[in-house]
Amino acid sequence: MATQTILVLGATGKQGGATIKSLLDRPKDASPIHILALTRNPSSPAAQTLATAHPDVVELVQGDSTTPEPIFSARPKGSIHAVYVVTLPGKVSEETQAIPLIEAAVAHGVQHIVLSSVDRGGDEKSWTNPTKIKHFYEKHNIELHLRELARAQPGKFTWTILRPVAFLDNWAPGMMGKMFSAMIAASMKPTTKLQLVSARDIGMFAAAALTDPERWAGRAVGLAGDELTLGEAQEKFERVTGQTLPQTWTFLGSLLLWMVADVGNMFAFFEEEGYGADIEARRRELPTQDFETWLREGSQFEYSDIFLGSSPSRNRNAAHPPARRKARAKYPNTDTAFQQSQNKLVLNSPDGLAV
Ligand SMILES: NC(=O)c1ccc[n+]([C@@H]2O[C@H](COP(=O)([O-])OP(=O)(O)OC[C@H]3O[C@@H](n4cnc5c(N)ncnc54)[C@H](OP(=O)(O)O)[C@@H]3O)[C@@H](O)[C@H]2O)c1
Repeated sequence: MATQTILVLGATGKQGGATIKSLLDRPKDASPIHILALTRNPSSPAAQTLATAHPDVVELVQGDSTTPEPIFSARPKGSIHAVYVVTLPGKVSEETQAIPLIEAAVAHGVQHIVLSSVDRGGDEKSWTNPTKIKHFYEKHNIELHLRELARAQPGKFTWTILRPVAFLDNWAPGMMGKMFSAMIAASMKPTTKLQLVSARDIGMFAAAALTDPERWAGRAVGLAGDELTLGEAQEKFERVTGQTLPQTWTFLGSLLLWMVADVGNMFAFFEEEGYGADIEARRRELPTQDFETWLREGSQFEYSDIFLGSSPSRNRNAAHPPARRKARAKYPNTDTAFQQSQNKLVLNSPDGLAV
């Protein structure tokens, strides 16, 4: 079997990192792959960890998504088979990060492009619902451009669009996890559910789409593994960890929603429209994580088997639960630096939350 070369953007981040991990975790007899991991800074601890842990499969590529030509021209035409595209909200528009790169990829002979976008109310509705949230409608514009580019050049390349909902990983231990809870409390009714997905699952679907284009070509799907009210999340968190779901003062959540318009618009969307991913359909395709599974298998929160099935009040009274185990995501051969980079704050753009 010929080796497939896959370029992964955002390789040192949550989605790209999870995609690489899923690609590396494929069965031993799966078709061979070579991963080009794009980073602006190959000497960063996270990039170095990636490269040194898997030198035979992962190759660091220094580059910036806003200047894509050098990324492709450094390699023979047609030598990159698939690309995973992740964009970030910020000063440079997401269209600027993705559209020239997609065009350069197609001109270079890339056969399959997997775009990470965001769900905007369901698989069909998302095509016609840009929303008024900047980092949603910029992704919508990229989606339309990608689809049109493929229509204009039939047979040249195929695409898949993955549309994740809010990341479970927003609840990483630390201030941003507390702020995430506070913003939900400040903006959503106690009965309104928020759809959630783990970064691990985004990587799982991305790896599937990148390595099986025939099955995934022309599909645009929402990715979600659970949907919860804040109260349900609090109850499940307490049952699994024996602790209270981290949350800071609600007024701080309100303040952030007011100060950062795009984040305020997004939480208004959560309350008024909501994501519309088909959780059951995704679960039938691949083993997605719900909140509790993510807490045990993928989060950095501690959990204790001893409390499984016990009442929240008993958990609350347990000051020092015995036999507590670490429930860390398993990133074999990776070190703390990479682990931390996977869980870094989601407030990573000048515009606010990269949700
Ligand atoms: N958080 C949520 O709930 C949520 C939900 C749905 C969608 N999303 C979307 O997910 C996206 C963020 O994904 P993520 O959380 O995986 O991001 P992330 O963890 O912040 O990682 C992004 C990576 O992209 C790389 N990068 C940044 N600018 C770059 C550039 N100009 N050129 C090349 N590489 C660049 C960085 O790596 P280097 O520093 O190594 O270059 C960084 O590690 C956003 O668009 C957000 O809207 C988020």
